[in-house]
Amino acid sequence: MRTSIIPPHIVRVLRAFSFLLMLVSTLGGCGGDGPVSSSPIPEKPADYPVDSIELIAGLRASYDFDGTVKDLSGNDADARVVGHATGNTDLGDISFDAFDGIHALSEAAVFNEISGLVLPANVIYSHNFSVSLWVKPESGRAAVGPIFFLESRGNSLKLDDAGITVSGATGFGRNGDETLTYTSDDFLLTAGEWQHLAFTVDDGNVDIYINGDRVYETGDIFTNGLVFGTGDDSWALRDESFNDLFSDGSNTVAIGVTNAETDTPFKGKIDSLRIFDSALYYGNIITLSREVVDEGPMASLSADYVSPNSELAWTVARFTPETINIIRDRFVAPGVLEPEGSLPIVATLPGDGNVLDGSVTSFVDLDVPPGQSYRYTLRFTDAEGHIFESGMDDFLRVPGDEPYAAVTAMLNEETNNIELAFYTENIAVATYEILRDTDPDITDASSIAADIVDNTYIDERSSEAFPLKNGTTYFYWIRVTDSDGKVTTSPAMLTASATAAGDFIPLSVLVIEENTDGFCGVDGLIESNHDGFEGDGFSNTDNEMGKSIRWRVNVAEPGAYNVYVRYANGAAGNRPGVMHANGAPLIEQVNLPTTGAWASWASAKYVVALPEGEINLTLTAQTAVGLSNIDSLRLEAIEGSNAPTGVACAEQ
Ligand code: GCU
Ligand code: CA
Repeated sequence: MRTSIIPPHIVRVLRAFSFLLMLVSTLGGCGGDGPVSSSPIPEKPADYPVDSIELIAGLRASYDFDGTVKDLSGNDADARVVGHATGNTDLGDISFDAFDGIHALSEAAVFNEISGLVLPANVIYSHNFSVSLWVKPESGRAAVGPIFFLESRGNSLKLDDAGITVSGATGFGRNGDETLTYTSDDFLLTAGEWQHLAFTVDDGNVDIYINGDRVYETGDIFTNGLVFGTGDDSWALRDESFNDLFSDGSNTVAIGVTNAETDTPFKGKIDSLRIFDSALYYGNIITLSREVVDEGPMASLSADYVSPNSELAWTVARFTPETINIIRDRFVAPGVLEPEGSLPIVATLPGDGNVLDGSVTSFVDLDVPPGQSYRYTLRFTDAEGHIFESGMDDFLRVPGDEPYAAVTAMLNEETNNIELAFYTENIAVATYEILRDTDPDITDASSIAADIVDNTYIDERSSEAFPLKNGTTYFYWIRVTDSDGKVTTSPAMLTASATAAGDFIPLSVLVIEENTDGFCGVDGLIESNHDGFEGDGFSNTDNEMGKSIRWRVNVAEPGAYNVYVRYANGAAGNRPGVMHANGAPLIEQVNLPTTGAWASWASAKYVVALPEGEINLTLTAQTAVGLSNIDSLRLEAIEGSNAPTGVACAEQ
């Protein structure tokens, strides 16, 4: 008899562990259909020669960002980390994400909106070159920030959310200095996704490619070049190529920043940056855009309980196993023996049959003890001893004779609600009560609903009493009351947890409002006449250069912290401030640009390193109009687990 042991909405074909599969699925669309466009998009050549990347000629500089900004081309082109503009050579912080490189097990460079990279001047030395990179912006269009920047004696080329802008002595316009923009409706980067971005410059002619699709081709531009004559008799020399602006060797080449203090740097990740000394042809770009598609081993595993056995079947791709080990983990209810905060799993091996020949694709695990939940993992080993593991991220339930209750939680990505489904064995259910917490320990969980009779429940993101916070993982339990009043509580399981949509908010956070410890004073007033503030109000500095807001915090753990300044700016321009820590510059410029209205609030985010001990933080207006209105200062621990604490310092 086939027993249904997993609630039906749980996907039965279980996904491979880890990022390997995620990588492939995220990038699966690369090189696919181009975006819908109003302007004609050139057809991809039907037959393009696909070289390997190594065979593409003219590599000037190459960075894989595997924990370093060193050049791998052999041309001595190591990059240098800078602060929020190319001139801030003694500031800046580029980190590396070990789990999010474009390749399996590779790292990517993380740009934090306050830092960038400067490359040696000579990686580009003419108006013939190509730039290829993988980019994962944190925000979508209009907030991407500069990705690539090139400057030479007042001439510049910038790649950002508006495409490519070239200014300086371009050779256009009456004075030969008209700015050229190379862009199209199809220049759209997607937030939170890896995509391949490349552009080529061929004697000043620009082509731009996203995921191997040419989204801008020289010829789209409509600019009056040199205009001769006037009125009906006038004629223009139309051309799309700009002058050779970059051959005199005094270039500044940068990633993520420009030379302008007022430009907010790029925020997101960049990987596999390559610069070539000629305009690559389309086939080369396609080769580059395919760098990570269909890469790495992949497996899928399905598991079914067919009483009294578990039946496993799997496929593996891009890996040739010589042997296969099967590991069965048993889930046990959280108990005293297990480390705090982890979901306890006990590894067991199902007998002698656990080493299989590499060609086998199914296995029957005989007489699995009932009343337990199991997770299977396959460990594939190839002839050279490489190991690839893949397994269920779910559990297989083998029913027993005792009352048993379980809840599964899944984020609905359309509604952003978390949907729960309940499962019981041997219980005549009367009602369900739902408990929720942000850790897998039930003792301080909150009861979010009771007297539920349906076996499903929707935990609403916008629930007034129990809203779901961005990026927070919630653990759920059910307490099931049967018709006799007997109560069965479900254990904390991985499948009983789900992560709410949005950015993760670190657990250890300090928010300083005007009325909390840590707020010392403001050169101005604490006001509350514009809506949307948190706490008692906001700090309105006098509109003068040098006016400041002061806070004091105690840092227990030296390390990296996110700093957020929540602000509103109903005026037109940026109202930046410099942030000092104990008198030394910490953030050279906290940008506080317009939010459109005094009641529209935004947060300026920076990443800083804070030393241990008490720190006076000041934010001082750099312009004659003072700061924007400031609602709060928020510090989040990135490395450690403790945010700073606010020190009582109110100035009388
Ligand atoms: C307005 C606004 C204030 C703001 C001020 C300013 O007066 O109401 O909240 O601080 O403009 O420009 O600084
Ligand atoms: Ca003001």
